[in-house]
Amino acid sequence: MSQPMIDPFGREVSYLRVSVTDRCDFRCVYCMAEDMTFLPKREVLTLEELDRLCSAFVDKGVRKLRLTGGEPLVRKNIMSLIRNLSRHLDSGKLEELTITTNGSQLARFADELAECGVRRLNVSMDTMDAAKFKTITRWGDLGKVMDGLRAATEAGLSIKINMVALKGVNEHEIVPMMRWCHDNGYDLTLIETMPLGEIDEDRTDQYLPLSLVRARIAEDFTLTDIPYKTGGPARYVEVKETGGRLGFITPMTHNFCESCNRVRVTCTGMLYMCLGQDDSADLRAALRASESNDLLYDAIDEAIGRKPKGHDFIIDRRTRQPAVSRHMSVTGG
Ligand code: GTP
Ligand code: 5AD
Ligand code: SF4
Repeated sequence: MSQPMIDPFGREVSYLRVSVTDRCDFRCVYCMAEDMTFLPKREVLTLEELDRLCSAFVDKGVRKLRLTGGEPLVRKNIMSLIRNLSRHLDSGKLEELTITTNGSQLARFADELAECGVRRLNVSMDTMDAAKFKTITRWGDLGKVMDGLRAATEAGLSIKINMVALKGVNEHEIVPMMRWCHDNGYDLTLIETMPLGEIDEDRTDQYLPLSLVRARIAEDFTLTDIPYKTGGPARYVEVKETGGRLGFITPMTHNFCESCNRVRVTCTGMLYMCLGQDDSADLRAALRASESNDLLYDAIDEAIGRKPKGHDFIIDRRTRQPAVSRHMSVTGG
């Protein structure tokens, strides 16, 4: 039987993040090494299996479903999965179906996403300077992302821009980015870089604490804490001078694990109960072992029973190893 997912600390899991592919058409410096090797296709769940898996979680009380990657929109036929999953919006079981995207393919897909009941998108964009965008994403093209954002707005989608705050790279662009987002009606969330997977750079050089950023912004703007909640980890302020919302995602300086409501599944069907821990459960085996969902529900319940209290992220000069060895693109954040 399907029953709600409540972890040992009494936290109810209602938010599922599903990485539908580990592949990406960018190579962001804080996320991947340039010569990443990706999973062979046979390891990856089919779209039908992903649908069954997501639907089982919906039966178990998930009300918010976010598809991530890699880049979710580079997965072949991804729109058919999104269209099928939108039946859970129609039935009222799911409150939100959405994606986190790098925006490169949005110009193509925005209309269809809106038709499928997607109302809000999170788009990663760390800079508005085309040359710097290339440096950070290695393979990305800012012009395409801008086209995608326009298409999404025209399709009626709300947009939140995710900006990973990187010391010496984009820290002086935070205020211009905020103004630009708010002028265009977008929310902006700033994110502290997290130590996941070996990358080509030194994370100590990249890490910028958002406590510092907030204090700097507050010298010139009036920031008021607001109770706005999306079900994600950001805490929001309203910026009086722009009238827009600014969010802070602070895994390093302010841990939000105590209110964690989410788990993530990878494109191979591994369930990770915490972004910052290695423990996982193989749902693909349970999925493929039988046509009924009983084994799957049991595997999920058993895993939720092991959801850890939180992460142990550290970024400093003495800690050279990332907290977890897998890359961000495996779980999609
Ligand atoms: P909203 O629905 O808009 O609140 O989105 P979200 O913040 O939940 O999702 P998004 O994909 O935009 O993620 C933004 C950042 O939050 C990414 O860097 C994620 O890695 C990070 N994030 C999301 N959930 C967790 C979490 O449980 N722990 C940590 N440490 N980071 C998380
Ligand atoms: N630390 C923090 N955020 C990251 N993202 C990717 N890698 C990292 C990292 N190491 C962000 C992306 C995207 C979101 C899913 O996670 O910019 O917006
Ligand atoms: Fe791709 Fe997102 Fe990773 Fe950048 S952060 S390489 S866009 S998966």
